[in-house]
Amino acid sequence: MVDTVPFTDIHMDDNTIHAVEDVLRSGRYVKGPVVEQFEEAFAEKCGTAHAVGVNSGTSAILLGLRTVGVEEGDDVFVPAHTYFASVSPILSLGANPIFVDVDPETYTIDTTELADAIATSENPAAVVPVHLYGQLADMERVMELAEEHDLSVVSDSCQSHFAEQNGREAGSIADVSAFSFYPSKNMTVAGDGGMLVTNDDDIAEHARALRNHGRDDQGVHRHLGLNYRMSEMLAAVGREQLKHIEEWNEGRRRAASLYADRLDDIDAVSRPIEADENKHVYHLYVVQVPDRDGLREYLDDHDVGTGIHYPTPAHEHPAVIERCGETTKETAERITDRIVSLPMHPRISEDEIDKVCALIEGYYNA
Ligand SMILES: Cc1ncc(COP(=O)(O)O)c(C=O)c1O
Repeated sequence: MVDTVPFTDIHMDDNTIHAVEDVLRSGRYVKGPVVEQFEEAFAEKCGTAHAVGVNSGTSAILLGLRTVGVEEGDDVFVPAHTYFASVSPILSLGANPIFVDVDPETYTIDTTELADAIATSENPAAVVPVHLYGQLADMERVMELAEEHDLSVVSDSCQSHFAEQNGREAGSIADVSAFSFYPSKNMTVAGDGGMLVTNDDDIAEHARALRNHGRDDQGVHRHLGLNYRMSEMLAAVGREQLKHIEEWNEGRRRAASLYADRLDDIDAVSRPIEADENKHVYHLYVVQVPDRDGLREYLDDHDVGTGIHYPTPAHEHPAVIERCGETTKETAERITDRIVSLPMHPRISEDEIDKVCALIEGYYNA
C-alpha cells in the first residue's frame, strides 16, 4: 500500500549532473556555447527558426511583448484565469491588460469574448493566449482574430512544453511564444529560466539584443535592454532535460488517462477536458469539486499533496486593481473556489493514483 503521494517529483539523472560539472570545470558561465546548443535543440523540437534563452518565463513574455512592439497605452488581451506572470509583463510596459474570461472546460481564453473585447478596444495591440495546465488555447481562432485586427500574438506557453494542436507544437503557432523552465514545469533548468521562440528573424535578433542590455553584434547599445541572460550551467540542465521531454509528457498523459478512468464514476468531480484538436501535456491535473478546501484537508491528512492553480483570478490582484480598476469575470471567479490540482508527474504510479482516487471517492460518497 502506498504511503505518501507527493504533488510532484523532480528528477535529475547522472548525465545532467555530469553536464553541469563540465560547465563548472570549463570556467565559462555566461554567453557561452551551451546556451546556444540548448537554443538550437529547443528550436528544432519546436519546429521554429529561433529560440532565445533567457532567465525566466516572465522575461520571455516581457521580451516577446517588447519585440512585437507593445508600448505604453496599448491594450493587450489576456485571460482572467492564469498565473500573475502572464499579466505582470503587460503592466510593467505600461500597457493595459484587458481581461477576457476563460472557457469553463478547457480553462483557456474564451474566443467569443475575446472577439467582443477586441471590437470595443480603442487601442488593440496584442493577445497573450495562455496554454494553461498543458493544453493549447484555440489558436486557430486566436490567429484568425489577430490577422483580422492586425494584432500581435505572444503565447504564454510556460505550462505547455511540446503540447500540440492539430499536430503543431505549442511554440510554433504565434508571433512569439514564451516558455518557462521553473523547477515544477514539465522540463526545468534546475532554477529559473525561460525561452522565447519565433520564426521571425528580426524578433529573434531584437530579443537577443534586449536580453543583453540592448547590445548588438557590433557592441553598440541600440535599445534599452537589461540583463535577462540564461546561464551556461542552467542551459546544460535544460539540454539534458530536453532529451526526455517526450517520454515524460507521455508519462503525464498515461497518468491523466488513469485518473480519468478512476474518477469517472465520482459525480462530484469534473475532470479536465482535452479538446479534440489538442494533445494535452498535463503540466497540472486540475479537477473541479464542491467543498474543495475540505477535500484538500482530507487528502493532506492522508499524505496526498495537492495545489490550487490559482487561488485568485488574475484581475483581482491588488497590483492589477490599482492600475486597471475592478472588473468581473464570471467563470474565472466561479472556478477559483472549485479547482484543485491533484498529484501529477511522469513517474506517478498506478497505485498512487488509485490511492488518491479512492480517497476522493470516500470523501464524497461517505
Ligand atoms: C502560465 C505561466 N505564465 C508565466 C510563468 C512565468 O514563468 P517563470 O516563473 O519562469 O518566470 C509561469 C510559471 O511560473 C506560468 O505558469
